[in-house]
Amino acid sequence: MQPEDKIVILTGAGISAESGLATFRDDGGLWAQHRIEDVATPEAFARDPVLVHRFYSMRRTQAAAAEPNPAHVALARLQRDWPGEVVIVTQNVDGLHERAGATALHMHGELSRALCAACGHRWDAPSEMTPETTCPACAQVSARPDIVWFGEMPYHMDEIEAHLADCAVFAAIGTSGQVWPAAGFVREAARAGAETVEMNLERSEVSRAFDTVRIGPAGRVVPAWVDGILTAGTGGTTGGAP
Ligand code: OAD
Repeated sequence: MQPEDKIVILTGAGISAESGLATFRDDGGLWAQHRIEDVATPEAFARDPVLVHRFYSMRRTQAAAAEPNPAHVALARLQRDWPGEVVIVTQNVDGLHERAGATALHMHGELSRALCAACGHRWDAPSEMTPETTCPACAQVSARPDIVWFGEMPYHMDEIEAHLADCAVFAAIGTSGQVWPAAGFVREAARAGAETVEMNLERSEVSRAFDTVRIGPAGRVVPAWVDGILTAGTGGTTGGAP
């Protein structure tokens, strides 16, 4: 790797598991307790806004009480200390990358933000949102969590595609590879010539697309990978045991 090389990192719920936040598809995960079609689609919100707001208010409270773990901290260190650009793209809505001192592109939105379905205004969400929450810009009673639901277009896609097309290293951390378009990022980065590495507790749906797979908890595997890059400039295939 060259010091000016760009590193793109995709994170999923697994990176926050050791902070005590539930993943979606592991045993007992969020989608075992709640049906996607009840809480994570625009149709669900139109049908039962009380239930949907309650689901996201619960998760907002849990995220606010959680602390970043060594994996978040290591990525913030990489972003600060690597001479080239380090782009963190996250599917997570918990804000733990920022709380660790990093910046991230939130492709699935953020729990801490509210969005007005009427005028598009965004603002800091109160800890508990209800169907009575009004938009501070247009005063309509049409506030929703600023979360990308199934059937909606993820945020920042043009910017993300451009980063994937010119990165030297692409890493995916704690994501099951079951949700698109994020599941396809590894192939886009590989097509552009990037070295690719997956870090996950187990093999994901798309493990075969990666050059290297490092199995283990993010809190252990990610700091070792970051150490390898910062000390020897080795992005994926060497530096640190799986
Ligand atoms: P998933 O719950 O689908 O996958 C989490 C992955 O993290 C699994 O492969 C686990 O094995 C792994 N994992 C669990 N604990 C870990 C740990 N301590 N260290 C490392 N890996 C660990 O979550 P995502 O892939 O993030 O979207 O899910 C993607 C999207 O699906 C979410 O953003 C959400 C969900 O539906 C929306 O709500 C729109």
